[in-house]
Amino acid sequence: MTTPLLSLTDIHYTYAGTTMPALTGANLELFPTSRLGVLGHNGSGKTTLFLAAMGILTPSKGTITYANSQLKVEKDFILLRSEIGYLFQRSDDQLFSPTVIDDVAFGPLNLGKTPEQALRIAAEKLSLVGLKGFENRITHKLSGGEKKMVALASVLAMQPKALLLDEPTNDLDPDTRERLIHILKNLDIALCIISHDWDFLDRTCTSFLSVENGETKATEFIPHTHIHTHQGGNVTHKHE
Ligand SMILES: Nc1ncnc2c1ncn2[C@@H]1O[C@H](COP(=O)(O)OP(=O)(O)OP(=O)(O)O)[C@@H](O)[C@H]1O
Ligand SMILES: [Mg+2]
Repeated sequence: MTTPLLSLTDIHYTYAGTTMPALTGANLELFPTSRLGVLGHNGSGKTTLFLAAMGILTPSKGTITYANSQLKVEKDFILLRSEIGYLFQRSDDQLFSPTVIDDVAFGPLNLGKTPEQALRIAAEKLSLVGLKGFENRITHKLSGGEKKMVALASVLAMQPKALLLDEPTNDLDPDTRERLIHILKNLDIALCIISHDWDFLDRTCTSFLSVENGETKATEFIPHTHIHTHQGGNVTHKHE
């Protein structure tokens, strides 16, 4: 068995000003070939788990290991952040440059690419996500779905070894959601995806983790046998 690329073990975290812990012994293991879907009710701790993985918040207890090194303080997360692409639940937390091309080129520039190389990669990723021609648009004026896809282009532009995606289908129309599925299926990197869109998880992931009240457990997500309503439809049904 290969060693995990990323592992979080027994993670505990309570937000300042609250008494209820958001994470109470959560675990996550991501291997280079993982396609892990993360399910759980609103407020169960899914986003908090990703924030801990990226070192954006510091757990009160637990260990985080990336590429065989234990990460404890801010500077330990530099390598992980350059190699793992993180798509935020809210795109407004992710996008900060005035124009779309600046946002997407920022990552590669930061990784040491020349301005020409960074612009070429950015243009290529914008085209991949279906936003060719959006280069000079004002980022904060884009629609919700457009922002989501710009954010995806910006993480893909970093040529990551793994992606943590927090509710990537939010705001996407059915065609754009299909495009996203196609893009993800063609990537040869580790994927960890939080979503309430079970059909989407079924099509993009091969193992599943459920988060309940700040705790994680591997779950038998049984593709095709859950009851659901299709996007755009209103009849709840079950596939055999
Ligand atoms: N900045 C914060 N300050 C205080 N409490 C917070 C903060 N962020 C999250 N929480 C609380 O921590 C718990 C876990 O939140 P989290 O965002 O991880 O849930 P989630 O599983 O991602 O939910 P959703 O499916 O709605 O996105 C919730 O009870 C939430 O209210
Ligand atoms: Mg969340």
